[in-house]
Amino acid sequence: MKTLKFAVLPGDGIGPEVMEVALDVLKSAGEEFSFTLDYENADIGGIAFDKHGTAFPDSTKQVCEASEAILFGSVGGPKWESLPPKEQPERAALLPIRKAFSLYANVRPGLLYPELTDASPLKKERIPNGIDIVCIRELTGGIYFGQPKSTSTLGNGEEQAIDTMVYKTSEIERISEVAINTAKARGNRVCSVDKANVLETSVLWRKVVTTYFAKHAPEIELSHMYVDNAAMQLARDPNQFDVLFTENMFGDILSDEMGVICGSLGMLASASLGAQKNSLGFPFGLYEPSGGTAPDIAGKGIANPCAQILSVAMMLRYSFGQLEAATAIETAVEKAVTSGNRTGDIAFGIDPISTKAMGEAVLSHL
Ligand code: IPM
Ligand code: MG
Repeated sequence: MKTLKFAVLPGDGIGPEVMEVALDVLKSAGEEFSFTLDYENADIGGIAFDKHGTAFPDSTKQVCEASEAILFGSVGGPKWESLPPKEQPERAALLPIRKAFSLYANVRPGLLYPELTDASPLKKERIPNGIDIVCIRELTGGIYFGQPKSTSTLGNGEEQAIDTMVYKTSEIERISEVAINTAKARGNRVCSVDKANVLETSVLWRKVVTTYFAKHAPEIELSHMYVDNAAMQLARDPNQFDVLFTENMFGDILSDEMGVICGSLGMLASASLGAQKNSLGFPFGLYEPSGGTAPDIAGKGIANPCAQILSVAMMLRYSFGQLEAATAIETAVEKAVTSGNRTGDIAFGIDPISTKAMGEAVLSHL
């Protein structure tokens, strides 16, 4: 019997309540697929700030270091919005944890089941078979982390702020490799998104991506698109994309757009992977829903747990090599939200759902 050792960081808002349901699903999968769980909880985000005075305490980092993977909930909320920007949970927890473990590759599937096309704001004719794309976003470079990054007061009393967008060849090459591997497991098509008509970093991005793909994966159909056009094309015909591949900030924006056209942020899982392998030889990774803390519905038991459950499935697949269990969980979620008398609206939380009931529905299909 294998034991899966991972860190559980529920965080703030709806994080803890959806995490509880996701862990129930994982336990049940363990019984079926013969693994046991050995996980340790640790504080992250606003709750960590309240308890330890910092959003990403050393003790939490140590729990993560002693694990094979991190299962993450979400961080932030109105309570901490008045803190200085640098101390706010999103910037003081999420960005440092990505950097600390060098999690440079963010994988966000954009999946809308055909039965639930009504949940998308796009017209049904545009997505008759639902949506099935994936966004590969560079996660530890670009304007999020580039130096200098500062705010200063000029001689005339005016304030000036600077962010720096910077990319190196090696950063672009290693994320290209992830895009290639993702495409090979899917439709063999990658669309690389940049702003090469304006930005130097994008000119380099396009050059390095083109060279890298030609050398290492000539069989993959590579195209390039400017980010403004990509935003438009995503709303016009999302399935023209297979793998959408881009730098940090463009990926942040496009992946949210992908979320909304897929009907609900409550369904979107993500994996953040790095170069580091865990002791099992699989990539060490952080797995989190893309939807945030949803403070307006936190504590009410009505948050959709599916994104957290699907993040568990991604963790099983990437960091533990438990492919069958991962697929079983994904299939169970699909059945739970598309079967019975659930409408697209209920499944996607547009009408309130019960977190527990949704968890039970998933368990019943596992
Ligand atoms: C995301 C989030 C984060 C980001 C924020 C909360 C720092 O929007 O994971 O997409 O911008 O990366
Ligand atoms: Mg975002």
